[in-house]
Amino acid sequence: MRVLLIGGGGREHALAWRLVRDGADVIAAPGSDAIAELARTAAIDPAGTGELIELARRERVELAVVGPEQPLVDGLADALRAAGIPTFGPSAAAARLEGSKADAKAFMRRHEIPTAAAELVRDPADLSAALRRFSQPPVVKADGLAAGKGVTVASSFAEAEQAARACLERDRFGAAGRQVVLEQRLTGQEVSLFAITDGTRFALLAPAQDHKRLGDGDAGPNTGGMGAYAPAPVFDSDVRERALASIVAPTLAGLRAEGRPFVGVLFVGLMIDADGLPQVIEYNCRFGDPETQAQMFGLRTPLLGTLVDAAHGQLRDDELVGDPAAVVGMAAAGYPDTPGRGDVIPDLAEVTGLLWCFCSPWLSLPLLGPVM
Ligand code: AMP
Ligand code: GLY
Repeated sequence: MRVLLIGGGGREHALAWRLVRDGADVIAAPGSDAIAELARTAAIDPAGTGELIELARRERVELAVVGPEQPLVDGLADALRAAGIPTFGPSAAAARLEGSKADAKAFMRRHEIPTAAAELVRDPADLSAALRRFSQPPVVKADGLAAGKGVTVASSFAEAEQAARACLERDRFGAAGRQVVLEQRLTGQEVSLFAITDGTRFALLAPAQDHKRLGDGDAGPNTGGMGAYAPAPVFDSDVRERALASIVAPTLAGLRAEGRPFVGVLFVGLMIDADGLPQVIEYNCRFGDPETQAQMFGLRTPLLGTLVDAAHGQLRDDELVGDPAAVVGMAAAGYPDTPGRGDVIPDLAEVTGLLWCFCSPWLSLPLLGPVM
């Protein structure tokens, strides 16, 4: 089966690796040097909707898989489907759950899905009064997509106010920050939960934990994620049952009821409190990065058929079984604010050989390969 994979990051590299193992003939757009070692690539930007459709038609693509959030929020999956290309990825209307934190909060309120109390602020003149409604410094979130940098977990009211004013008055994130969500800070353990869905039924990937601080010892600034492992032990059977009943099922039902069924992977960022009660921190409309790298490496069952079934509205409720796996990220100097580009990691072949030896006692041998 020929698959068009849109994107070119580490997440898409892991997806390409998995799909090729499942027998897919993958074309990645734009892909990356690493993906080019596994699959064909086409130098088309994910924003190039017309070119992507042309490529998919020319290559008789049977499934398109959209990796990053921006093209989904911008409607790429709608355009591909309208062109008759079976697509794994939500419509722009469904992807708004990630594209607007205000939309996500309002959605959760409408459908009684557990999440932290929040205030939406559009006018800087309303900020002080909104801040006073919190007893602890709130988390400040730019409403729109901000490349993973739009959230400030403030440790004082002054810091929260500064972060909100940077968005509202100084255009820190441009249009994405013209309104901000102030949210009660939750405590507990975070879990990234992934439901591959056709809009009604869903198949869960191994729940993961990702680690966001740049430095060793959980120090330094927040990043998009420096490492992840799956499964996460905190997500035991009780937590699982609660999360599915109070969050995943009502989210999918709510989206269907609002005429925006979600076809793709619904990524729910959860906070599990000390009593094992899950609340939603955020929704994403795509696979996680770097969670995918761990999940695809550990996955024991094929993924391709599940994505095809979801795209065709024919998924069975399922759980995708995985062996434990972990991924560790390395960052270029200056990351996350001003990362250098083009640095070379020498002796990579030796490192991957070493990882093979290091990992093999824990991971099932047929899945191992030096390509990751
Ligand atoms: P997001 O960009 O929404 O993924 O948020 C980035 C990170 O900020 C999350 O992964 C959490 O670690 C943290 N965060 C977001 N919202 C909250 C909250 N209400 N309470 C505590 N931490 C939060
Ligand atoms: N690792 C978190 C994310 O992909 O948003």
